[in-house]
Amino acid sequence: MEKINTYIDQNKNRFLEELFALLRIPSISADSKYKKDVLSAAEYLKHHFQEIGMENAEVCETPGNPVVYADKIIDKNLPTVLVYGHYDVQPATPLDQWESDPFDPVIRKTDIHPQGAIFARGACDDKGQMFMHVKALETMLHTQSLPCNVKVIVEGEEEVGSVNLSWFVQRHLEKLQNDVILISDTSMIAKDIPSITTGLRGLSYMEIEVTGPNHDLHSGVYGGAVANPINVLAKLIASLQDKDNRITIPGFYDRVKEFSTAERQKMAAVPFDEQAYKKSLGIAEVQGEKGYTTRERASIRPTLDVNGIWGGYIEEGAKTVLPSKAYAKISMRLVPDQDWKEISELFKKHFEDIAPKSVEVKVTTHHGGEPYVTPIDGVAFQAASKAMEETFGKKPLPQFSGGSIPIVALFERELKSKVVLMGFGLNSDDIHSPNENYGVWNFFKGIETIPAFYKHFATLTKEEQ
Ligand code: BES
Ligand code: MN
Ligand code: MN
Repeated sequence: MEKINTYIDQNKNRFLEELFALLRIPSISADSKYKKDVLSAAEYLKHHFQEIGMENAEVCETPGNPVVYADKIIDKNLPTVLVYGHYDVQPATPLDQWESDPFDPVIRKTDIHPQGAIFARGACDDKGQMFMHVKALETMLHTQSLPCNVKVIVEGEEEVGSVNLSWFVQRHLEKLQNDVILISDTSMIAKDIPSITTGLRGLSYMEIEVTGPNHDLHSGVYGGAVANPINVLAKLIASLQDKDNRITIPGFYDRVKEFSTAERQKMAAVPFDEQAYKKSLGIAEVQGEKGYTTRERASIRPTLDVNGIWGGYIEEGAKTVLPSKAYAKISMRLVPDQDWKEISELFKKHFEDIAPKSVEVKVTTHHGGEPYVTPIDGVAFQAASKAMEETFGKKPLPQFSGGSIPIVALFERELKSKVVLMGFGLNSDDIHSPNENYGVWNFFKGIETIPAFYKHFATLTKEEQ
C-alpha cells in the first residue's frame, strides 16, 4: 500500500479542489429549478472519469435525471466491483441557518474534526463519499494497482427515491453484471469505532391535502361553525401515535420482525453516550416507542414523522382567516419485513377512515423503498472488514442504520450479488441539515481504505474458487 499512500499524499490538495468544484454545482433533485445544475454535475463526473483513465464514460439518459456510467475492465478472469453513488443532493433550505454558503465549500475546524471539515451541501451525502471512490480509482489506476475490474454508476435521483433507477438497471442487466456492489453513502459509529452498515430502513413517503370550505373565510364570521382543515389535520396526525408512541394504523406492525434478546444485547454492547447525544441536539429528553432504547428506536423500529406541514396565513403579522386547505408531508421508516407499498395503502385507508365528514382528504404516495439486511459471513463483508481493520487498526462493527437507500434491495435482487455499505460519514455530519460537513480526515481515510477493499476482495474471491 506504500505506493498508494504516497500517491494520495502527493495529490491531497488537488483531490479536495476537484471535490469542491463538484460541490459548487447545486444539483438538487427535488426542485426542478435546478435541472440544469443536475445535468452539469453529471457532465462534470463523466469528464472526470475520462480524465482519470476510466473507459466507456457516458451520461446515460433515463426518464428522469441521467445516470453516469464508467468502467475499466482489465481482465475477464478477475472479479468485478460495481460502485454506486449519487450526485444529487437535498435542498439546502433553510438558508439562513447556514454559517457559510451551502454551494461554496469551505474547510473549518470543529471539535470533532480538529483537522478541518468541508462545509457544503453534499459534502458527505453523497458527493464527498462518492468522490472518494473516484479518487481511489484514480490512485489505483495511476499506481497500476487495480486488482479487480470496476464499473461505476452514479445516479441523480437518490434523494427523491431513485424512481427511475430500476428502469435503468432492468435495461442494462448485462452491462451491470458484477461480483460485489460497493457503496459509501452511510455513516460509521465514530472516527475510532469503524463500522459497516448491515441494515437499512425502508421508507414510505405520503402527502396529505385536507380541504374544508371552498374558499378562505373570515375566522370570526365562520369560526366555530365550520371545520378548520388545519385544526383537523393536526388532530388526525396526533392520533397516528398513541401514548406509548406506537403507530395506530391497523396492521402497521403485522410484518415487523422482532429482534431476539441476544441480538438486542449485542447491539447494546456498542458504546453510545446518550448524554452527549442529547447535548449535541440541544434536547432535554429523548422520546420514542416504549420498551426500546434510543438506538433501537432509530434503527430497528419503524417510525412515523411529519416532514412538513402548512396552510393558512404564515406571512408577517396576524391575519384572521379560516383557511380552506391544509397540507402535510409524512414519512414512515420501515423495517424488515414491512412492504412499503402495503404500508402506503394501509396509511391511505386509515387516514381516509378517520377523517371527519366536515372535510375532504386526499392522500397520495410519493415514493418508497424496501428495508434491507445483510449477513456478515460472506466474502464481500469480510473484504470490507479486513480493509477497515487495515486502515483503522481496529475491526469494524456491524451496524444497523436508520436511513434508507431505496435501491439497495433492488440491486441485490436484480443483479444477484451482494451489497457492501462501507460508509465513512458520522451522524454528526448533519446530512440533509444546515451546515452539512464531512471531515477531511474521513475523506482521505475513505480513499485509503477503498483500495484495501479491492485488494482483499480479489484475494478472498480467489481463495474461494
Ligand atoms: N445517504 C442517505 C441514507 C443514509 C444516511 C443511510 C445515513 C445511512 C446513514 C441517503 O442519501 C438518503 O438520505 N436517503 C433518503 C432516502 C429517501 C429520499 C428515499 C433518506 O434516508 O431519507
Ligand atoms: Mn446519500
Ligand atoms: Mn441523503
